[in-house]
Amino acid sequence: MKLFSSVHDVTDIKQFVQDALDLKAAPHAHAELGRNKTLGLVFMNPSLRTRLSTQKAALNLGMTVIVMNMDKEGWALETQDGMIMNGTTVEHIREAAAVMGQYCDILGLRSFPKLQNKEEDYSEDFFNKFVKYCGVPVVSLESATRHPLQSFTDLITIRETWKGNGKPKVVLAWGPHVKALPQAVPNSFAEWMSKAQEEGLVDFTIAHPEGYELDGQFTQGAEIVHDLDAALHGADYVYVKNWSSYQDYGKVLPVSGNWMLDNQKLKQTNNAGVMHCLPVRRDLELAAEVLDGPNSLVIQEAGNRLWAAQAVLKKMLS
Ligand code: CP
Repeated sequence: MKLFSSVHDVTDIKQFVQDALDLKAAPHAHAELGRNKTLGLVFMNPSLRTRLSTQKAALNLGMTVIVMNMDKEGWALETQDGMIMNGTTVEHIREAAAVMGQYCDILGLRSFPKLQNKEEDYSEDFFNKFVKYCGVPVVSLESATRHPLQSFTDLITIRETWKGNGKPKVVLAWGPHVKALPQAVPNSFAEWMSKAQEEGLVDFTIAHPEGYELDGQFTQGAEIVHDLDAALHGADYVYVKNWSSYQDYGKVLPVSGNWMLDNQKLKQTNNAGVMHCLPVRRDLELAAEVLDGPNSLVIQEAGNRLWAAQAVLKKMLS
């Protein structure tokens, strides 16, 4: 594996989940695989889980890890080609990525969207140029439109916890927020769940207010409804996440009705496990009583970020 940027980079998602769960059972079974290899993690934006879990995953494989907080500690990067760089940018991504590739065997990159220009964000120009110029394998630590390590983790968590017969009903439920957030997590979750549905592993529904439709390329095969209560009926997993509008790009649109999952709403489900990628705003996006209650899977889910990252790095090293 030379690139991990979406579910399309994985040939067998069921086996990949099993690989991660095997690593969870024996974290140090491949402690020599990464000896004398260096992982570089490049952050254009903040992170808690991605940064720590990917570092720990690399250490479990015997790798050395270096971290660059590019947004705070690096030179201001230019991404446009053909520019006379007489403005505020200091270094072109062509040189910056190529230089980082000289020091590292594998690179990870986090680069959020600006949420101002849909075409620019959805072209993944920054991420793609980084991949092109660095010259080594790249792991997405969340790009403008996808967060594959998170979505892989989410599938691991569902497969690990599902004890029922048949396929679980998985609901991606939009939750309220005061800020405009990217669509990367829901896009990616939808893409992975659609693939899991194709392979007979889940039944997948998306519930969001009108105006919050995701880009159709990520939601093929999903049932899409605008009624949260109807979607929650019989749900085995509810994945709560806010996102800003894709159609009215990057906007927070007015919404009618109550879209925050609380214990009352949870009663409509099949005693569902509740998931969220974190960070989460309590009692805004998701009720604190749910986060603190017995149905919450969020800490186990965050813990599984480690095994997702380790499975990806192991595949790249192998
Ligand atoms: N879920 C997630 O990616 O968390 P961080 O932004 O803290 O890395």
